[in-house]
Amino acid sequence: MIMNKATAIAHPNIALIKYWGNLDDELRLPSNSSISFNLGSLETRTSVEFEPDLSGDQLLINGEAQSGQVLQRVTDQLDLVRSMAGISDSARVTSTNNFPMGTGIASSASAFAALAGAASRAAGLDLDVKSLSMLARRGSGSAARSIPAGFVVLHAEKSNEDAYAESFAGPEYWDLMDCICVVSRTHKPTGSTQGHQLAETSPLQAARVTDSTRRIRICREAILDKDFETLAEIAEADSNMMHAVMMTSNPQLLYWEPATLEIMHAVRRWRSEGLPVFYTIDAGPNVHIITLKDYRSQVIEKINQLGSITTILTSKPGYGVRFIDT
Ligand code: PMV
Repeated sequence: MIMNKATAIAHPNIALIKYWGNLDDELRLPSNSSISFNLGSLETRTSVEFEPDLSGDQLLINGEAQSGQVLQRVTDQLDLVRSMAGISDSARVTSTNNFPMGTGIASSASAFAALAGAASRAAGLDLDVKSLSMLARRGSGSAARSIPAGFVVLHAEKSNEDAYAESFAGPEYWDLMDCICVVSRTHKPTGSTQGHQLAETSPLQAARVTDSTRRIRICREAILDKDFETLAEIAEADSNMMHAVMMTSNPQLLYWEPATLEIMHAVRRWRSEGLPVFYTIDAGPNVHIITLKDYRSQVIEKINQLGSITTILTSKPGYGVRFIDT
């Protein structure tokens, strides 16, 4: 008899070199490698219980029953686990987040990382970090990066077995701090699953992907050398490149709001005045301002002075997926 229930916690992550576009949409094989760190203060907690009596998978997110595409995506992930474990029972999945969903704070990353962990364990599988990362990637590409701890690289490779994320520095390695300016809490008009499919329609995507090996090398070395200025330049350039692709896709995707741009300008000004800060923006209007731990209060004060942001979430680098007793 397999243990049929398990609970896992996973954090979202912020990419410093971003993933946009797939080599294979079905397998979610990313077109370019990416680098991120996990956000230790934000978390998704997911329990999975396989039950022989259920007639179909059930999903509760923050207490609300889900159906349609949201449920289907979870069922697809559960189907992978069921086929790996050789079981057929439906599952009851309960998930809670301590941060707003669908705002460009990658809730899908922590969601599919926690789901991969909880579902595989509830099905009696004992997967290593690499296998869990591959499994999480099938639900959401960036979820592969929420499995290992700390600073992580997700390899863009042509085969399922080679496209996984691994840690190259632990969460304590460098005292970075992400100050997330929540510009909007509303759901994104175009989610990343659709967005990835549009990447190739931009003539800029090929150049962005070709240059990604250089950006990965510079970013990884800057993190290992704790060279903030180099990291700031390469991460902002990378974020701008991804948004340039988004803005020039067909149809075009424009995620920025006026407040997004206001913060981008402010961050560049603060950096030129000597404050260690840079911005990076995912598929939404929120701005992640990365700084060093010692400058956290100063950065928050400056954001508050702008007057346009009411919610700021902060997080230091965090651990990978882990299991808790329920
Ligand atoms: O994992 P997805 O399919 O939600 O893609 C995430 C894409 C970005 O957040 C925009 C960039 C990244 O690398 O996290």
